[in-house]
Amino acid sequence: MESPFKGDILKGKVALITGGASGIGFEIATQFGKHGASVALMGRRKQVLDSAVSVLKSLGISAIAFEGDVRKQQDATRVVQSTFQHFGKIDILVNSAAGNFLVSAEDLSPNGFRTVMDIDSVGTFTMCHEALKYLKKGGQGRNSSSGGVILNISATLHYTANWYQVHVSAAKAAIDATTRNLALEWGTDHDIRVNGIAPGPISGTTGLSKLAPDELNNKEREERPLYKLGEKWDVAMAAIYLVSDAGKFVNGDTLIIDGGLWLSQPRY
Ligand code: HXC
Repeated sequence: MESPFKGDILKGKVALITGGASGIGFEIATQFGKHGASVALMGRRKQVLDSAVSVLKSLGISAIAFEGDVRKQQDATRVVQSTFQHFGKIDILVNSAAGNFLVSAEDLSPNGFRTVMDIDSVGTFTMCHEALKYLKKGGQGRNSSSGGVILNISATLHYTANWYQVHVSAAKAAIDATTRNLALEWGTDHDIRVNGIAPGPISGTTGLSKLAPDELNNKEREERPLYKLGEKWDVAMAAIYLVSDAGKFVNGDTLIIDGGLWLSQPRY
């Protein structure tokens, strides 16, 4: 689908995207690139990163990838540094790396709970923390007139409760709290805007195939306000809005991209 945004809306921007080599993160990287940004991808799997970069390059997008695990602070430090060294600045950080599996709370080990908290919540904070010196107004590679932007990928499942997702619900709730608190502190101190996106069920994602199997194609569809799944494109367009000047007065918000589903029957 054609973008409603001008092709140069992100011209000259540099974006670092964790989990950027697959799923929603990769679509965000692709659309940012198509709208003029240079993109750095961070992920754990070299092969997936390599193939993502070659797809982006084939589209004429300036792209590079760095292996790293957001659970490791030294990886976070190295990847933001490498991004800065390669592109000379960082304007946008997108925290899209996430882990997930369905398991009842009874069967979930504390270490399983911790693992998802470590990836989603602590990983998000770690990346924000390590990127701060590049994102803040007057920081490394920036001029003194503006700060950068952070975008955290969240979910809607923690707005109420959900089956077999206590670890993810807790992790995403922590991400939303982090979004709001950093928006307040870093908006005030460093001119950085911090926002989130909460996607509903999005077709073609690992999250959907893991969490919402076939039932979505029949009964669940009837209960869906828009009677269809979202697309990765929908999330990427919201991301462009939030990180570009179109969203310049939006700070501390988490934008729900689910066609209104959570209003009627929160499940994902
Ligand atoms: C129960 C599990 C489990 C499972 C792992 N664990 N998988 N417990 N059921 N299916 C437990 C393990 O037993 C272990 O605890 C602990 O978690 C750590 O497991 P490891 O395998 O050592 O972890 P690791 O290799 O680091 O793998 C991380 C992972 C993995 C999250 C567990 O699934 C992963 O990286 N997946 C790919 C990323 C992904 O799923 N992306 C999609 C995100 S979708 P013990 O106690 O045994 O040591 C998304 C959407 C959210 O985020 C919103 C949806 C609405």
